[in-house]
Amino acid sequence: MKFTVFAAATAALCALATTSVAEPQAEVLHWWTSGGEAKSVAVLQQEFKDAGGTWTDMPVAGGGGDAAMTALRARVLSGNAPAAVQLKGPAIQEWYEEGVLSDISAVAEENGWADVLPEAIANHMKCEGHWCAAPVNVHRVDWIWANKKILEDNGIAMPTTWDEFNAAAEKLKAAGITPLAHGGQAWQDATVFETVVLGLGGAEFFQKALVDLDPEALGSDTMKAVFDQMRLLRGDVDANFSGRDWNLATAMVMNGEAAFQIMGDWAKGEFLAAGKVPGEDFLCASTPGEGYLYNVDSFAMFDVDGEDKEAGQALLAKLIVGPSFQKVFNLNKGSIPVRTDVSLDDFDMCAHTSSEEMASSSENGSLLPSYAHGMALRGAQSGAITDVVTAHFNSDMSSDDAVKMLVDAVAAVQ
Ligand code: GAL
Repeated sequence: MKFTVFAAATAALCALATTSVAEPQAEVLHWWTSGGEAKSVAVLQQEFKDAGGTWTDMPVAGGGGDAAMTALRARVLSGNAPAAVQLKGPAIQEWYEEGVLSDISAVAEENGWADVLPEAIANHMKCEGHWCAAPVNVHRVDWIWANKKILEDNGIAMPTTWDEFNAAAEKLKAAGITPLAHGGQAWQDATVFETVVLGLGGAEFFQKALVDLDPEALGSDTMKAVFDQMRLLRGDVDANFSGRDWNLATAMVMNGEAAFQIMGDWAKGEFLAAGKVPGEDFLCASTPGEGYLYNVDSFAMFDVDGEDKEAGQALLAKLIVGPSFQKVFNLNKGSIPVRTDVSLDDFDMCAHTSSEEMASSSENGSLLPSYAHGMALRGAQSGAITDVVTAHFNSDMSSDDAVKMLVDAVAAVQ
């Protein structure tokens, strides 16, 4: 009896001594390089380090993530994928179909994700029934940001219709002020375009045109009116808009060089990182019209070898959906937590508006995925639309021609 106990204890000790505990490691590819973004991703790095992890940073600058996605393809093709990648929308399922994503269902189940995530968002994180990505936040895309002082000095209220916006822009131009801070990069053109589609067409039209890719909607008079409005907006930007990064456009509003910016609420992260206060220094409002365009950031884990890397992936996934990260990260990032059980008490008025309007738009059927931020369509399809939007914005193409081109471009990638 004594001998048996002794033998068992010795065996247990030996097992302890020989089992090396994997130290979590992760190389993380992301495109969060602006002031507010860097501050936000630092929260995840810190939590990962505090939990014993070693983080290898792979930031790829470029708003909207186009450059990051090019870097990702090169890494996967060379058989050396990073462990964790900022990836979202249908691109998650596209990569899963390539057979290169890990199944993170064990972490999701252990941490009860199904109980704390809205179903629509959880569905974006699943591939053939398995959890294959961890959601970070809910960004809203259809926002308009304004310099409060410029609006007050010029007797302008936050526009609630596109006509009001156009009238405000004329007034500002007459006063020698640039109405719209914009960066001429394709994804930024697409961001503005989709808010106009929602505003002028409404939720049902947005769904038909930019989610279902219905040729009738794409070729309609409503779509012509959208391009007419884009032409007006082109006249509201300054001469140096071409190629400008989005955060520099935000800085123009901050510094009083322009009145408005149409951009998702990562722009709020920039205002906050610069110490600006919503309601005092800057204003936020949804772009004219009804509805809510959501953009959920998430991370997917790529197949990698090694227990330490697998441990790193599991730890990262757990932290990302954890309540403490969800709160602190989103306070910095400008978005709202994706978990339904995180209190918004410490969040500002823009975040409260976002949360309330997300709930109301979900009830009335106007909660829609952002096409410009990869939530609605596969890459080839959204790329075809964006090519037309940007070609129109940067030329004197007529709305009639733009609409014809749009119908043809989408048909070619169906
Ligand atoms: C979005 C992304 C945001 C923000 C923005 C600008 O696509 O979801 O988190 O980073 O691009 O880079």
